[in-house]
Amino acid sequence: MKTVSLAALHTEAGRRDPYPVYAWLHEQGPICQVAQGERYSFVVQGFEAASQVLKDSATFKVAESSAPTGPAHAVFMNSMFFTNAPRHTRMRRMFNHAFTPRRVNGLLLAIERMTGELVEQIAGRDRVDFMAEFAFPLPANVLGELLGVPEVDRSWYRPRALALGALLELGASTQETIAAADTAAQEITPYFAELAAQRRAQPRDDLVSALVQALEADGGALNEEELVANLIVLFNAGFVTTTHLLGNGLTLLMERPEHFTRLRERPELASSYVEEILRFELPTHFSLRWAAANAEVAGVNIPQGSWVLVLLAAANRDPARFAEPDRFDPSRFSAARADQTLSFGAGAHYCLGAALARLEGISGLRALVANFPAIRLAEPAGVPRQLMLRGHEQLWVTTQQDRS
Ligand code: HEM
Repeated sequence: MKTVSLAALHTEAGRRDPYPVYAWLHEQGPICQVAQGERYSFVVQGFEAASQVLKDSATFKVAESSAPTGPAHAVFMNSMFFTNAPRHTRMRRMFNHAFTPRRVNGLLLAIERMTGELVEQIAGRDRVDFMAEFAFPLPANVLGELLGVPEVDRSWYRPRALALGALLELGASTQETIAAADTAAQEITPYFAELAAQRRAQPRDDLVSALVQALEADGGALNEEELVANLIVLFNAGFVTTTHLLGNGLTLLMERPEHFTRLRERPELASSYVEEILRFELPTHFSLRWAAANAEVAGVNIPQGSWVLVLLAAANRDPARFAEPDRFDPSRFSAARADQTLSFGAGAHYCLGAALARLEGISGLRALVANFPAIRLAEPAGVPRQLMLRGHEQLWVTTQQDRS
C-alpha cells in the first residue's frame, strides 16, 4: 500500500483541477494511506473500494458529535448527514415516509412548468447569468414547492444557504466562513421552526405538512431541533447541488457541440446525459467516514478510529470501472443502469433527493437544448474553485439567435 500526500488537493490549483491528482491516485491503487500530518489517515479512490466503505455503515460511520461548536455545526450534527444508526435510521425513516416516489413524480408537471417559465425569462437575451436566472431558481422553486417555502422567501434564502454550505469544503474553514455560516444558521433556524408550526396548525399538501403529521403519528420520532435541522439540510442539499448539475451540464454541452446537437435531436437520451454529466463533473467530490472497528478494504488494514476520505468524483473516473474515464461519453449509460456511479453516494446515506435531482436535470437540459440552439458563452466561464458544491458562481451566456 502506498502512502500519499493530499496536499495538492488543498491548493487553489488542486481545487480548480483535481482530476490529474485523481488519475495519479488511481495509479497508486484503490486506497492509499495518507501521510502523517493530514486530517485523514486513508483516501479511497477506487470505485469498488469506495462502494464497500459507503455500504458498510456499521463499520464506516459519518462524523457525529454531541457537542456542537456553534449554531451551524449544530444544524449539521442534528441532521441525517451527520448521524449514524440508530438515530440516522429514525430520521431517515421519517423522511422516506414523507419523501415518497409518488410525491417526487407528482412534481414532474410543476418542474416542466417552472422550466418553461424560466426558459421564457432568459429567452432572447444578449447577456444573462445562467446561474442566477435559471440554474438557481429551478431547484429552489421546485424545493420551495415541495417543502412549502413561499416564493417571496426564496431569494432571501440563497446567500444563507451558500454560507452554510461553504462550511463543508475540504479543509477550507476559516474564522470568516464559520462566522458567516453561524449567522446564516441563526437566521434560517427560526424560519423553518415557524414554517413547521404554521403547517402543524394549518396543514397543506406539502412535505413539511406531511412530515409534521407523520411525526405526530409516530409519537415524536424526531424532536423539534432535529426536524428543523433536517429541513434546513434538505433544502440546502437539494438546491445548491442541482444548481451545479445544471450549470456544469450546460457548460459541458456548450463545449461539445456534437453532444448539444445529439441531445437536441434525441431528447430521450437526456437521462444518460445527466448520468454522464454527474459522473464527469460531480458537484459533490467527497464524503468522509471514520472506522468504528478494525476493517479491511482492498487488502488494506484500516485501524479502528481512522478517518477515511472517500473521493466520489475520483471513483467516478476509476479506469478499472470506466473505459477512458476522462472522456465525456453519455452512451456509457442507459437509463435502466443509472446507478452505476457514486454520484449520489451509496448505502444508508444514499442521496434522498437523487430521483428529484435527475428529474430536474432532465427537464432543464432538454428545455435548454430545445429552445436555445445557439446558446453560447457571453464571456469566458470561470473555473470551479471548490470540491464540495463544485460549479460556477456565474455563467454569462447569450440566448439570442446567432446573427451571423
Ligand atoms: C445533482 C444533485 C445532487 C447530488 C450530486 C447529491 C449528492 C449526494 C451525495 C453524494 C450524498 C451522500 C453523502 C454521504 O454519503 O456522505 C447525498 C445525500 C443526501 N442528499 Fe443529495 N445530492 C443531490 C441532490 C439532492 C436533492 C435534490 C436533495 C433533496 C431534495 C438531496 C438531499 C440529500 C439528503 C437529505 C442526503 C442525506 C441522506 C442521508 O444522510 O441519509 N440531494 N446527496
